[in-house]
Amino acid sequence: MADTKPIGLDQVQSKQLAEKLNILLANFQLFYINARGFHWNIKGEKFFELHAKFEEIYNDSLIKIDEIAERVLTLGYTPTHSFTEYVEMSEIAEVMNVSEGKAALQHVLSGMSTLIKLERDIHSLAAEAGDEGTGALMSDYIREQEKSVWMFGAYLK
Ligand SMILES: [Fe+2]
Repeated sequence: MADTKPIGLDQVQSKQLAEKLNILLANFQLFYINARGFHWNIKGEKFFELHAKFEEIYNDSLIKIDEIAERVLTLGYTPTHSFTEYVEMSEIAEVMNVSEGKAALQHVLSGMSTLIKLERDIHSLAAEAGDEGTGALMSDYIREQEKSVWMFGAYLK
């Protein structure tokens, strides 16, 4: 078991948090690659707008992917780092060959809902464990993604 004494957290709870963070990481990797696919394959009169929006989404995901993986390391565990495991662990499924803007945004919206649900679960476990570092990270993600859900919902009306 990892030594979490230096940061003062309970070892059992840290392991649970690391496992949940690895599941979040896997979901983010699928969310990321799906957004890349939308960025590449999108067609139609909103091309320039959506091509740029999907790039913004996947770049933001890349930052979060690294933050989550490094939080797993900070807790004393190893971040999952293979595509095989990501696909097995992720609730978000691979999406292929979507070129229509609204369909792509629906996939983004549903992926974000999954991410928010996982983040809330991690946030509450972090609160129980007194893990302010993980909890604060989840709070930031939840707040940002809830705002995105509102915006994408407005776009799709
Ligand atoms: Fe590009």
